[in-house]
Amino acid sequence: MDSSGIPGKALSLWMDTSSRTAYAALEGDYACDVAILGGGIVGLTAADFLTRAGRKVVVVEAWQTAGGVSGFTTAKITSLHTLIYKHLLDNFGPERAQIYASANQWAIEHIAERVAMGGIECDFVRDSAWTYAMTDDGREQVQQEVQAALKLGLPAQFVEEAPLPFRTRGSIKFDNQARFHPRKYLLALAETITTGGSAIFEQTRALRVEEHDTHCEVTTDRGRIKAESVIVATHYPFHDEAMYFARLSPQRSYALAVKVQGGQPDGMFISADEPERSVRRQPYGGEDILIVGGDVHKTGQDDDTVRRYLAVADWARENFQVEEFLYHWSTQDPKTPDGVPYIGRAKKSNERIFMASGFDGWGMTGGTVAGKLLSDLCSHRENEWAELYDPNRSEIRAARTLISENVNVGKHLLGDKIKGGQHVDPLSLKRGEAKVISFDSKTVAAYRDEENVLHAVSAACTHMGCTLHWNTAEKSWDCPCHGSRFDVDGKVLHGPAIVDLEPSPLEGK
Ligand SMILES: Cc1cc2nc3c(=O)[nH]c(=O)nc-3n(C[C@H](O)[C@H](O)[C@H](O)COP(=O)(O)OP(=O)(O)OC[C@H]3O[C@@H](n4cnc5c(N)ncnc54)[C@H](O)[C@@H]3O)c2cc1C
Ligand code: FES
Repeated sequence: MDSSGIPGKALSLWMDTSSRTAYAALEGDYACDVAILGGGIVGLTAADFLTRAGRKVVVVEAWQTAGGVSGFTTAKITSLHTLIYKHLLDNFGPERAQIYASANQWAIEHIAERVAMGGIECDFVRDSAWTYAMTDDGREQVQQEVQAALKLGLPAQFVEEAPLPFRTRGSIKFDNQARFHPRKYLLALAETITTGGSAIFEQTRALRVEEHDTHCEVTTDRGRIKAESVIVATHYPFHDEAMYFARLSPQRSYALAVKVQGGQPDGMFISADEPERSVRRQPYGGEDILIVGGDVHKTGQDDDTVRRYLAVADWARENFQVEEFLYHWSTQDPKTPDGVPYIGRAKKSNERIFMASGFDGWGMTGGTVAGKLLSDLCSHRENEWAELYDPNRSEIRAARTLISENVNVGKHLLGDKIKGGQHVDPLSLKRGEAKVISFDSKTVAAYRDEENVLHAVSAACTHMGCTLHWNTAEKSWDCPCHGSRFDVDGKVLHGPAIVDLEPSPLEGK
């Protein structure tokens, strides 16, 4: 248990049970065919396709390979994305809904083939995926989803009782889906990328991307890269000429790895109703443990994230014979207004800059689809998925969601600024306490650590200036507008921000 009272080690199971990588940082200038910014599942899958096709690729990673969201996921590999197919049929029509279904089913089979082809040891196993209902409303939605999924030829069925240790109100089940250890899989891809003549540079942050007639140029904090094309695979796009910040809504959620007695449920489960709950098995130390998760909320918009973990832990205790909590971790994924990820040209007029984001918690298949689609686009190859996923598509069908998202952002952008910081003496902050305070007509994000040292930085997010909120569980400053996150000393933990917070003169007081 950590000092916040959250049970288990504060690290993702995936990060703790895979190797640390130590690829060198970029030094000076470099030239390649395709520059891929971000070494998560999108970037590494694209790099894998491109290097195997003989292209010279550079992957630029700000921190550690597969150490972003892909290293903190729950890693179910499935085309059952809670409830999506009725929504797709109603809003996109049968042809596009079919493309979504087929692309995500393709992704499962691609991962299976890649694991077999490379002899990759990553705990890949076939498993069934379930969305279960707890209420009458959930049951109706699940029944409608079964009908929609069957129309699209998906391996769906309605099951009255899910194999869970509590009563459910009916489920949709997809057979022949899968689960794995995502980081072991991705580190194996990284190894083949670098042995194939391409390169990965870690501890290198991309700062700017420019498109010219014949090539692109990427400016990083370590040097410049000249490339024929660029893939922005940084999870939330930092290069944003098409205003993704007004269209993507980052959602944070929580996971715990738990040792239980009395057997584990057979399958991978997610609830149709709120609060979202998710559970899957994972081999660990010669036995199977459970990963439980849920409690989604918009990043930076909850004042007490500790209680989110505790709610999931309580749910695990209520429903399983918990022997020990091993790990806890959380991360975030943005959703698009119409529920389909953005994968394609970064802006309409771009010929050479591509991006992917907006997987809404389903980026194991979605990110694999993105890797394939973006590698095709960079290679001028036709791909029938391109139109559905086009980031520049019309979003009329999601206009209402777009408006309410931007009202929400506006409230934080202006409202928090008008409110300003609290007028408190920074010296009065207790150990472990954090506050946004007013000091010398500036708004300061101040945190006094357990050793009594005051960490004080500007509370204005370097992306667009929203006032940051304290995240009690992760001890970070999170932005309620577009989800950037910073550590207590102002270092960027998660984009779209690329610039660290300014230090305050209060630092160290
Ligand atoms: C709690 C949770 C559980 C989930 N569970 C599942 C699941 O069970 N199944 C599923 O399919 N999906 C799941 N997802 C979603 C899935 O994990 C994500 O969609 C996916 O990992 C995103 O991959 P990515 O490559 O886009 O991002 P990342 O893995 O974050 O990769 C982006 C990389 O870019 C780097 N980067 C950022 N900015 C820069 C920069 N300026 N320069 C250079 N590098 C940069 C980052 O350090 C990072 O390594 C879950 C998501 C959450 C939040
Ligand atoms: S992430 Fe956009 S203002 Fe903070």
